[in-house]
Amino acid sequence: MSIAEQSPGDAPLDAALRDEIAAVARHAEQKRAAGTDALKLVQKRFGYISDRHLAEVAALLEMTPAELDGVATFYNLIFRRPVGRHVILLCDSVACWVMGEAAARAQIRDRLGIKPGETTADGRFTLLPIVCLGHCDHAPAMMVDEDQYGDLDAARLDAILERYR
Ligand code: FES
Repeated sequence: MSIAEQSPGDAPLDAALRDEIAAVARHAEQKRAAGTDALKLVQKRFGYISDRHLAEVAALLEMTPAELDGVATFYNLIFRRPVGRHVILLCDSVACWVMGEAAARAQIRDRLGIKPGETTADGRFTLLPIVCLGHCDHAPAMMVDEDQYGDLDAARLDAILERYR
């Protein structure tokens, strides 16, 4: 593989990041909590958690990669594959489903050309499903990165997508 083909997930964790993870591990009461926090640190730097990074973090936390992968799977804001610059998490639990999640999903497909699990060709957005965001009284609801949105109708959804470049 040439240098140009290397993804950020192939780079080793640097000393500063390893120190931050070690500090998280020292202060955590449970490995599982440390795992989530450590993975968030790595994701903040690299955008997602590669297999290589999963193994490195697991070693630092004295967990097996499989155990840590279980933490990552449990916490669905940890991404195990590269994602776009912005991640749309569209709630597909029952209240949102009843209130029009399918229409929002169809609109995202029409505007951005992506289905759940896909990333736009320009790397701008990844669309992922998510379980209830606790925003049911404003269903259908979604998050874009850290921002929560509800009452998604066609005009509002278009306006929200425009905010993320
Ligand atoms: S069901 Fe979608 S926010 Fe609760």
